[in-house]
Amino acid sequence: MTDTNKRKIYLAVGITAIVVLVIAVPITYFAHPDYNAGPDPVSTLPPDNTADNFKFNCLPGDQNPTVSKCKKNGCVWNNITVVNPSVPRCYFPQGYGAYRMVGEKPFTWGYRITLDRLDRPSIYGNDVTRVTLDVQYQTQHRLRFKFYELGSDRFEVPVELPDGGEMATDALYDVSFVSDPFSMKITRKDTSTVLWDTSVGGFIFADQFLQISTTLPSDYVYGLGEHEHASFRHDMAWQTWGSFSRDQGPAVTNLYGVHPFYTCLESDANSHGVLLLNSNAMDFTLQPTPALTYRTIGGVLDFYMFLGPTPEMVVQQYTEAIGRPYMPPYWSLGFQLCRYGYGNLTNVQEVVAGIREYDIPHDVQYGDIDYMTRQLDFTYEHVTRYKGLPEWVDQLKEEGTRYIIILDPAISAEEVSGTYPPYDIGTNLGVFITEEDGKTELKGKVWPDPPNIENIMKEIDCSKTGDSWGCSVENYRAEAVFPDFLNPDARNWWYNLTKDFHDVIAYDGIWIDMNEPANFVEGSVKGCDYNNPLESPPYKPAIWGATLADKTVCMAAKTHKSSTEISNQYNMHSLFGWSQNEPTLSATRDATGKRSIVVTRSTFPSSGKYSGHWLGDNASVWPHVHKSIIGMLEFGLFGIPYIGADICGFFEDTTESLCRRWSQLGAFYPYCRNHNGLNYRRQDPAGFGEEFAKEVRDVLHIRYKLLPYLYTLFHYAHTEGTTVVRPLMHEFVSDTETWTIDRQMLWGPAFLISPVLDEHVEEIDAYFPDTRWYDYHTGVEMSKGDRGKYVTLAAPYHYIPLHVRGGYILPTQEAANSTVFSRLKPFGLIVALYDDLNAKGSLFWDDGDTVDTFENGEYYLAEFHATKDGLNSYIRHDNGQVNGQTMNEILVYGLTSDVNNVYHNTVKLNVNNWEYDNQKEITHN
Ligand code: NOJ
Repeated sequence: MTDTNKRKIYLAVGITAIVVLVIAVPITYFAHPDYNAGPDPVSTLPPDNTADNFKFNCLPGDQNPTVSKCKKNGCVWNNITVVNPSVPRCYFPQGYGAYRMVGEKPFTWGYRITLDRLDRPSIYGNDVTRVTLDVQYQTQHRLRFKFYELGSDRFEVPVELPDGGEMATDALYDVSFVSDPFSMKITRKDTSTVLWDTSVGGFIFADQFLQISTTLPSDYVYGLGEHEHASFRHDMAWQTWGSFSRDQGPAVTNLYGVHPFYTCLESDANSHGVLLLNSNAMDFTLQPTPALTYRTIGGVLDFYMFLGPTPEMVVQQYTEAIGRPYMPPYWSLGFQLCRYGYGNLTNVQEVVAGIREYDIPHDVQYGDIDYMTRQLDFTYEHVTRYKGLPEWVDQLKEEGTRYIIILDPAISAEEVSGTYPPYDIGTNLGVFITEEDGKTELKGKVWPDPPNIENIMKEIDCSKTGDSWGCSVENYRAEAVFPDFLNPDARNWWYNLTKDFHDVIAYDGIWIDMNEPANFVEGSVKGCDYNNPLESPPYKPAIWGATLADKTVCMAAKTHKSSTEISNQYNMHSLFGWSQNEPTLSATRDATGKRSIVVTRSTFPSSGKYSGHWLGDNASVWPHVHKSIIGMLEFGLFGIPYIGADICGFFEDTTESLCRRWSQLGAFYPYCRNHNGLNYRRQDPAGFGEEFAKEVRDVLHIRYKLLPYLYTLFHYAHTEGTTVVRPLMHEFVSDTETWTIDRQMLWGPAFLISPVLDEHVEEIDAYFPDTRWYDYHTGVEMSKGDRGKYVTLAAPYHYIPLHVRGGYILPTQEAANSTVFSRLKPFGLIVALYDDLNAKGSLFWDDGDTVDTFENGEYYLAEFHATKDGLNSYIRHDNGQVNGQTMNEILVYGLTSDVNNVYHNTVKLNVNNWEYDNQKEITHN
């Protein structure tokens, strides 16, 4: 590539200077002859011409489908045409429906439709005979449609989302129905694109099995979590994904959180998103029709559709409904260091000394469960291993590093009475999840060791057994109970303990782990009663484990649903982590008197309001570097932008080359934490010697320099719901090439990150959408001929390709080894001009740490506009937050003519205060 146009100037200035409801004519699709087929199933089935892609599985999850089972369900069996083994052999007859419309009534918000069950075979039993469908035309872009049982007390998710309102008269969507059998269709009005059409059949509303299938307008589908997906864009080739919160490290099955939300790009680049607000165990099948089938085993089918029409607007509309993301404190955007099993304070201090030796930015140090006494919450091991921890934490802060502690929800129930107040107080208050009787505390096992662990370990050496995990769970783990956070007493109990613990260790934020909730025994130490339909539902979604209670508590266990209502784990399980968020955040905010932060493992829609998330227990293997980008992009869609993965990997020993590349990418995770598992080799930035340490420091300096830009992106995420880490397609949606890109990512609209994701690779093919781009490292413009193309970029081992988009202005600040110090340094701007010499950007600034600064007007917000005539700043709000600070570097990229003079306001600047560098004919690879 030849660059003919690198021009930049540097100058110094002071910062302050600058609906229609269409009821279709009732038609009966088919009175399908299958329903009462005769004695010989094969010969009596009708010839069927359903194309494979239109086959909707009538025996989901059945590993051994047979003709007779199929026939019993009133479905079609066709073994002959099936070439692809993923195509169901038993499928619903075309237009199969089990309900018909018997009424519709207008409401202020839309329409209420009444559906009655038809005489059809009941596949899972206990079908609801009358289903109500409320269609709420909530806003122009938001539609809610909810299938439920009017007047019954069926479970509904206790997360608050908009309900009712005045029917939008300017809706972007139309909803129409076919009455018998019932199906519905949602259309984007202006393009007539059909977004949903359930006439493909398969709608079932039974007590423990609710299913709905719809065609989709395209096979560009994203989201649906939490899983580890191989690509950001979903593979539509008959993929089924289970969702149920699970202590399960990245793998193809259901992971820690549940996000039944997808976005879809229509073929004309419009976009929409759909949330199924349901917390029961469920699965989603994507098939190449393209179509989606939801199957859940409880609750109601409560959908919200967001019409965009841009993908970024879909996320904004989604977070408007579920709650805007939390505004993280500035320091929490700095580099964070953690490992499981430092073992003692001396080891932590040694690692921190290494970080200091190389002057590596270090904003947060963590204490994982080994800081505690026998992993008991609200203790620290003060006798030997972590003696002096509180004093050391105080000292750390003076050096500019904060401390985050881990808290697990499981509380040991095996302590000697009177010695462990968290349990004693909790049990007196009755704050723990109970067995089905509503009284007996449900006991499982998680981390805490029993009081006499040393003696037990002397007697039983689990390392010598064939099943050391099973042996240690049985012998080394105490019985533990699980807080029922929605019980107001439990909430206050947790809040008080957490807040009071700040008097012991002056933590700055809290990391909540194992809150799926994780349990090392299945269900409880007593086991579960598998004769109970809650434990053994007629359909088990495609989730990890042989039972729903695998790795967690029994499904029949009693849990609050609200302060006054009781439900069970069957319904509430996936909301456990979500329910722990609010009390934890309130406690840490009140204890620190600051904004603080909570990072949680298990999430649900709206968790982003209170917390960030990390992608869990990945492994030190190359594919997880790539997968971390996919995970981050997905959590951006889910309204949880404070997201990252364990840099250098959690399980397994990392390697220097992996950790080097991962550190380069991780420097651009919004949540930037290097975290290591128990007993693996060191992987902190100082753990591989001087050269490595300096490389990590350099890439972290780039992050720190750009933190004002990142923080401003979080401000917009918090106030307008935009994404922080952004898929390229969200900015360049008309360019279909971007629709599949997941090896590159953007920070906001303007900063392109193109990491190396494979071993032994020193160049990458990076895509440059058709606009003006500059190399961040050199300021050199990408050649015009490279626009809208994949370009091979050099990426030597110490180097990550980074680019700035023309037309944007990025606020910067000189880096330091902590945000405490970088925040005192001069600001700067990178002004990357577009072809027309315009650029724009903004800076949000506050004290970085106070609660609700935006809400209370305690901030500074400036917009910057560059034109061919100069650069102007427009101060939109100024509460004195930048007083006394300066701006000493403005880099202007992409000028098209020579620069002779620079003026600040009307004053001509001394030539010593600016540099002009017009390098022509720069060649790079
Ligand atoms: C599981 C968490 O995912 C991991 O990050 C943590 O280190 C261990 N629990 C120990 O607390």
